[in-house]
Amino acid sequence: MATYEDVVNLALRRSLFYPASEIYANAPAGFYDFGPFGATIKRKIIELWRKELIQKENFLEVDGAVIMPEDVFKASGHLTNFNDPVTQCKKCNTIHRADKLLEETTKKPYKEATPVAELTAALREHKLKCPKCKGDLSDVRQFNMMVKAEVGIATKSPCYLRPETCQTIFTNWSRLARTMRIKLPKGIAQAGKSFRNEISPRQTLLRQVEFAQMETEVFFDPEQINEIEKWDEVQGYALRIMRTGSDKTEYISAEKLVKDKTVTGKLIAYYLARTQQLFEKYGIPTEKMRFRQLDNKERAFYAKEAWDFEVETSLGWVELVANNYRTDYDLKGHMQASKTDLQFTTPEGRKFIPHVWEISIGTDRTFYTALEMAYRKQGDREWLSLPTALAPIQAGIFPLMANEKAKELVKKAKEVCEGLSCFEVMYDETGSIGKRYARLDEIGVPYCITIDFDSIQKDDVTIRIRDTAEQKRIKTSDLKNELYKLISGG
Ligand code: GLY
Repeated sequence: MATYEDVVNLALRRSLFYPASEIYANAPAGFYDFGPFGATIKRKIIELWRKELIQKENFLEVDGAVIMPEDVFKASGHLTNFNDPVTQCKKCNTIHRADKLLEETTKKPYKEATPVAELTAALREHKLKCPKCKGDLSDVRQFNMMVKAEVGIATKSPCYLRPETCQTIFTNWSRLARTMRIKLPKGIAQAGKSFRNEISPRQTLLRQVEFAQMETEVFFDPEQINEIEKWDEVQGYALRIMRTGSDKTEYISAEKLVKDKTVTGKLIAYYLARTQQLFEKYGIPTEKMRFRQLDNKERAFYAKEAWDFEVETSLGWVELVANNYRTDYDLKGHMQASKTDLQFTTPEGRKFIPHVWEISIGTDRTFYTALEMAYRKQGDREWLSLPTALAPIQAGIFPLMANEKAKELVKKAKEVCEGLSCFEVMYDETGSIGKRYARLDEIGVPYCITIDFDSIQKDDVTIRIRDTAEQKRIKTSDLKNELYKLISGG
């Protein structure tokens, strides 16, 4: 099984991701850059989401500004409620997340919404000191996580970097409802950046200040929560469910979740099923997933029902998706604050504020987890067994060698590369053939095509399969078809 260090070491060695501004000693923690192949894997994670969720469900996708005025976040509740509990060292002044400090010491989870007085009492009970200098810790207080933005020379009204991409979707709602011929239920989605002033950014991509999200807000009529067009496609599908108060994960069909009233309606079970199916395509084994039901202490301030989609990694269970029933909370708030009518009018003339089911996916966390699930090691050999849809390129093309005596190999390899331009291929002639295989294995490339001296005589090539290291010879004329079959899995 992969460890966190295995994955991060490989990512750094291959520049998949690395600390932002790393050449400066004072670069803040919690920011990461993605290198060439990392950026491609991340783009493919987004493309798979777009294909499997947005296109199949006929949703709309937007791309909004990350800086928004303070009024948006007054209305959304973030300025008042979006807080982390912190404690400060009285000696060295370092600020720590009180709940995380307690978790690390007691190995017990502390819910985000635990009242500050309870956290202070727990700090005292466990006699916790500053982990840096052993100084005394202050009482716990709430710290707002919004990141302020300076806009213009004399900013008339304060602005913030959005803490969740969905606020763009809510502020776009009335325009899209007017201009996009919307019929409910309708999802509006966005892949983009969000920002949170994390006190203790850590675990690389898992807790950052600047991070990427793929969010979908499904707007629906609460009176029609059980009217789902493609319900028969998921009703027998088994979801991995962990109810509040239970420590067991069970397989429960979408139909049973609705029948037992574990979820408020079919729409919720339907999108939980679609979310699980998407993560199966990301290469996450089903037995390592669960939807964990949040109780009222754990739910975000805007949610009436919530299910965290979590994956068991070497660091424990990591939340990759927040699934929230946000009701009409956001549209109601924005309607009052902006004095814009955000109601929906049915063809029959009934007016109401739509309810919202949210599927909020952490893109970077999904990236880390997909890497960890794909990591393999055998002796000295390390590779990423990524699903082909996430591989940064589909095949590497190599001449066996590229010296003076091998000019014809180089020529043929370049011809093969050009002939495969309808695929995502990469030509590489630097280093020994073993090193070239190893480099591409480590970034998850599923196939390598090698041209050797026999290839010139016989007009063929060798295809090497990443996961088995098995090689087979193929006629150059069959290569396109063969590669297509391998990539499409049939
Ligand atoms: N929009 C929900 C979240 O960012 O957690």
